[in-house]
Amino acid sequence: MLIRKMSACWKWIREVNKINHNERSMAKILVIDDEDTIRRTVAASLEAAKYQIFKAADVKKGLKILDNETIDLVLSDLRLPDGSGIDLLRAAKAKEYPCEVIIMTGYATLDTAIQAMQEGASDYVTKPFNIGELSVRIERALQQKQLRRKVRRLERELHERFHPDNIISNSANMQKVLEQVKNIAPTDSSVLITGESGTGKELIANAIHLLSKRSEHPFIAVNCGALPESLLESELFGHVRGAFTGATNTRAGLIESSDGGTLLLDEIGDASIPVQTKLLRVLENGTIRRVGDTQERKINIRLLAATNKELTREITAGRFRQDFYYRINVIPIHLAPLRERLEDIPLLAKFFLKRHAARISKQIEEIDSAVIEKLMQYSWPGNIRELENLIEYAVAMADSEMIRIKNLPFTFSQESPVQNKSRADLLQQEILPIAEIEKRHILLVLEKVNWNQRKACDLLQISKVTLYRRLKEYGISPPGGNAPGGKKRSQALKGQNTKFK
Ligand SMILES: Nc1ncnc2c1ncn2[C@@H]1O[C@H](COP(=O)(O)OP(=O)(O)OP(=O)(O)O)[C@@H](O)[C@H]1O
Ligand SMILES: [Mg+2]
Repeated sequence: MLIRKMSACWKWIREVNKINHNERSMAKILVIDDEDTIRRTVAASLEAAKYQIFKAADVKKGLKILDNETIDLVLSDLRLPDGSGIDLLRAAKAKEYPCEVIIMTGYATLDTAIQAMQEGASDYVTKPFNIGELSVRIERALQQKQLRRKVRRLERELHERFHPDNIISNSANMQKVLEQVKNIAPTDSSVLITGESGTGKELIANAIHLLSKRSEHPFIAVNCGALPESLLESELFGHVRGAFTGATNTRAGLIESSDGGTLLLDEIGDASIPVQTKLLRVLENGTIRRVGDTQERKINIRLLAATNKELTREITAGRFRQDFYYRINVIPIHLAPLRERLEDIPLLAKFFLKRHAARISKQIEEIDSAVIEKLMQYSWPGNIRELENLIEYAVAMADSEMIRIKNLPFTFSQESPVQNKSRADLLQQEILPIAEIEKRHILLVLEKVNWNQRKACDLLQISKVTLYRRLKEYGISPPGGNAPGGKKRSQALKGQNTKFK
C-alpha cells in the first residue's frame, strides 16, 4: 500500500535525526535552589559540561532571570523560600517561556512527581542525585525541547503549504473551489474530490483537514488502487493475530489510526465492491471490525475521497456501489484540468519557480514571456504536477536570472507535434534521422506520463530493459535526475511502480 502521508513526515523524521549537538551543548540552564552548596556544585559540574549557567536562590529571582534571558532549561528545587518549584513552573508556562523545567526534590513522593509532570515539568530528580544521572535527564529534556520546536516549525510549514491562501488560483473556477473549501471544512460531511491526475485533489483534501476542527488529529491518505484487495482490507481495518497466513501480530488499521482526524481514500474508484461494502458500514455505523475479529470498535473519522474516474460510469458498469457513492458524495468538489484554467498558468509557474529556485539556492527571478506563451499553448495532460515538474527542470537547467525557452525540456522547446501539421508542412520540414525521432518520441511520452517508467513502457509497448537501454543511448535523464546508469537511475528502474522522481 502506498500511504502518501504527506512527504513532510519524511522531512520531519530527517529533521529529528539531525538534532544539532553543538546547539544543545551551548544551552542556557538556570539553577534555582536556596542551598548555596547545591547551587554551586550543580552549576560547576554543568559549566564543565559546557552549558551556560545562571543561578537563583528563590522563585522571584528565578523569574527575573527568565524575564531577561532566553533560558533553555530550568533546574529548580521543589521547596523554595518564597514558593515552590511548581509555582515557578506555572509562571513560566503562563508567560510561554520556551524552557523545559526539571524539578529537584528531596521529598519525592509519587504525588509531587505526578503533580510536577502534570503541570508540564519535563522530569524530576530526587536528591541526593549524582551528576551523571542529572546530565542524562538534562540532555533528554533539551532534546525534547528541540524536537518540540522543530515539530512546531514543520507544522507551520505544512499549514502554510496547504492553507487555501497558499493554493494558487487566479481562475474564477479555482476561486470558487477555494471558497467552497473554506465553507465546508468546519463541517464533518464527506467530500468527494474529482479531477484528472495532478489537478490538486490531495492538496485540496489536506486544506480541508487543516481548516477543520480535526486539524490537531491525524490526516491519513490511503491509495486504494495500490494494493490487492486482501491487503487493502487489512491495511484499512487492521487484523487480529492469526486472521490469515502471515498475520503474526494483532494490528490496528489505518482507519483506527486516523481516529479523531481525517481519512482520505484516494483513487476510491479502484476499491473493490467488498471493500466498499465494509467502508459503507464504517460510515453508517461509525464502527469498524478488524479482520478476523468479532469486536466492533467505535470510530470517529471524517471521510474524504478522491478519484479521477467517472464514478457514475463505474456504477453503471457494476464496479461501484450506488449507495456507497451517495454516502461519499455528500459534498462534491470538482477540479478542472489545467487546460481549462489557463489563467492560472503564469501564477503557478512563478510560484513553482520560487519554490524550486529556493530549494536549490539559485537566483532566478523571472520567466521569459515567450516561455509563458508556450506554457499557455500546451494541453497539460499531467496538469499542475506536470507544470511543476517542468519548472523544476527549467530551474535546474537555467544559467541566468531568467527561465528561457532553451531551459525547457526538449519536447517543449521543439516545434509543435508532428501530428498537428498538414502534409504540405511535413514535406517542407527538415528530414530527421530515425534515431532522433525515436529519442523525441520517448521524451514526449516520458513527459506525458510524468516520468513514470511503467506507464511509459505500457504506452510505447516496450520492455523496461529496452526503455533503459534507449535512455542510456540517448542520454535522457529525468528533470533533476542522475544520468542513466547512475545509482539513482538504476535503482529507479528496478521498481515496478517507481517513478523517476
Ligand atoms: N492550485 C495549486 N497551487 C499550488 N500547487 C498546486 C496547486 N494544485 C496542485 N498543486 C501541486 O501540484 C502537485 C499535484 O497535486 P496533487 O497531488 O494534489 O494532485 P492529485 O489530483 O491528487 O493527483 P493524482 O490524481 O495524480 O493523485 C502537488 O505538488 C501540489 O502541491
Ligand atoms: Mg492524488
